[in-house]
Amino acid sequence: MTATGAADRAAELRAAIDRHNYRYYVLDDPQVPDAEYDRLFRELQALEADHPELRDPHSPTQRVGGKALDRFAPVRHRIPMLSIRTETDVGPGGARAFDAQVRRELGLNEPDPPVEYACELKFDGLAMSLRYENGQLVRAATRGDGETGEEVTQNARTIKAIPLRLRGVAPDVLEVRGEVYMSRADFARYNARQREAGLPPLTNPRNGAAGSIRQLDPNLAAKRPLSFFAYGFGEIEGWDTPATHGEMLAALVEWGLPVSRERAVALGAQGLIEFHRAIAAKRDRLPFDIDGVVYKVNRLDWQRRLGFRTREPRWAVAHKFPAQEELTVVEAIEVQVGRTGAITPVARLKPVFVGGVTVTNATLHNAGEIARKDVRVGDTVQVRRAGDVIPEVVGVVLERRPPEARPFALPETCPVCGSPVVRSDSEAVARCSGGWQCRAQRKEAIRHFASRRALDIEGLGDKLIEQLVERDWVRDPADLFALDAAAVAELERMGAKSAAKLGEALERAKTTRLDRLLYALGIRGIGESMASALAEHFGALDALVAADPDRLQQTPDIGPVAAAAVQAFFAEPRNRDLIARLRAAGVTWSETAAKRLENRSLAGKTVVLTGGLESLSRDEATARLRALGAKVASGVSGKTDYVVAGRDAGSKLDKARELGVTVLDEAGLLNVLAGQALSP
Ligand code: IVH
Repeated sequence: MTATGAADRAAELRAAIDRHNYRYYVLDDPQVPDAEYDRLFRELQALEADHPELRDPHSPTQRVGGKALDRFAPVRHRIPMLSIRTETDVGPGGARAFDAQVRRELGLNEPDPPVEYACELKFDGLAMSLRYENGQLVRAATRGDGETGEEVTQNARTIKAIPLRLRGVAPDVLEVRGEVYMSRADFARYNARQREAGLPPLTNPRNGAAGSIRQLDPNLAAKRPLSFFAYGFGEIEGWDTPATHGEMLAALVEWGLPVSRERAVALGAQGLIEFHRAIAAKRDRLPFDIDGVVYKVNRLDWQRRLGFRTREPRWAVAHKFPAQEELTVVEAIEVQVGRTGAITPVARLKPVFVGGVTVTNATLHNAGEIARKDVRVGDTVQVRRAGDVIPEVVGVVLERRPPEARPFALPETCPVCGSPVVRSDSEAVARCSGGWQCRAQRKEAIRHFASRRALDIEGLGDKLIEQLVERDWVRDPADLFALDAAAVAELERMGAKSAAKLGEALERAKTTRLDRLLYALGIRGIGESMASALAEHFGALDALVAADPDRLQQTPDIGPVAAAAVQAFFAEPRNRDLIARLRAAGVTWSETAAKRLENRSLAGKTVVLTGGLESLSRDEATARLRALGAKVASGVSGKTDYVVAGRDAGSKLDKARELGVTVLDEAGLLNVLAGQALSP
């Protein structure tokens, strides 16, 4: 490539990557799959490696770099970073009190219209100030004591949600303030990896965010996945500021800064109460932790008029939600046996209200962790429940430990079946060695087999599984298909009607797909995506059963550990027998690759699904489109060949029309799936 060719290509790639980052982090509407993004990124890296003259500190490849620091340099905030007053009344009274105070201080009376408020989330992370000069990120600083913080530019640059340069025409100077946070998914993934490696996990996402930002080595900081939301401003030069906070935030979005979409402009106390209620209702479903909402007087001239009280503005307040961490006492420690025999210690707690529910049990994860935290019966512990995550014990309050408390030791034999508990050196978990001998493992295996994403056997609940396994009516999943409806009807909480329904569900479950069956078998480490990859690669179960680990590893995403697990599973005579008995019971599965060879009518086509479908689930539609060779993408772009628009299709459908992409309705989709050719 010529020098100018390379420079042009680098500029093109940087612009494309910046644009994809913007779609992903700011608009939350990615246009390309991750794989495509990675490809562009690698191409740019290669180009910069071949052409050192093209290196640029603002290139998206230059997020990590630089040496570890001895200390952080102090940064004085020309405009101090304030905190906000917290309204502790978590009920509607909190909102009313704030509105009343604002009205009083502004001198508003009864006939005056309600005050307009900018409502936001109160993110639970670490406050940070980002300084952009001529659109380039030049400095990032923590809040510190509000007057002086620490310079953490190197670490802030590793956060992909923070643009290294702004889009469009930016002010000469723009200081943006916001919160660095760790999403719940990133927190869980990070901790799972730490636990697997026998390393200490993070206590909560907030500590994760604070710890990584204050990490002196940027390479280590980069390993902890952080995000950022902007919510405020410091110094600004060279921009006519608009009239309201809401418009200021909208300008940030235009410049490419991520602002949470969970924001609204509300009118008066009633508007605040409604926002608080709406966010409280969806708090558990948010992808990150919040500890409340923030109300800000929307008009900036009124903000100036209200001014400050020592360290807090009079125009803003944080209205909290019930805490997600509380203290309680461990009354007992018991162990549970999972599907693969994993022994999980569970703390039985004195009931405590946390994260909106009463919690009586919390996981202690594994033996390694219980030893590290040294949780003992009688201890006062900090319990965390955030989102739909299982409550967990995050730490012990040592000052409150009773003198007689003794360290907890894992049992040496399984409390359910009495088999020895084993712990391999490579794993943090201890396992019951009983396998299918162990009723606890059997119950979990059946539960997994019947779960929605496996064979989806409706009506096979925990209570019923419990009874079926305890009576030895069901020793493995194949036994389910031989159940006697009359006998089932006699079980506790059953009856003729439920038994008949279960029979129908079992009948339906007999027709399944190879990927679902593989997932349902519960082979260790084989989740849904690996099961699909195997089904896709081998096409037929017999081919898979016969494959050696080398052949198995030729499957995309299947590494040596998974390959060994699959082979070991099928080498086991009882598992082969299980397959034979499932077949004998009439269980059949479509063998995808075989079909794929017959009909690849959508090879090379990109399809986007949007809206609800009546006759099949989105997962099913995706799998069947893929089986015909289609790529199923999430966003509509110039490369999309078809958009399938179901019920209540929204912006993707508009986009398709705008771009002139062929739109199919559900009937059209079914025709295609039935093998009817599409006109190009
Ligand atoms: S505004 C002048 N907005 O809460 C007002 N703060 O005690 C400055 N926080 O240190 C803060 N979400 O770390 C503001 N939407 C939000 C916020 C927020 C979280 C944090 C921030 C600040 C603390 C205030």
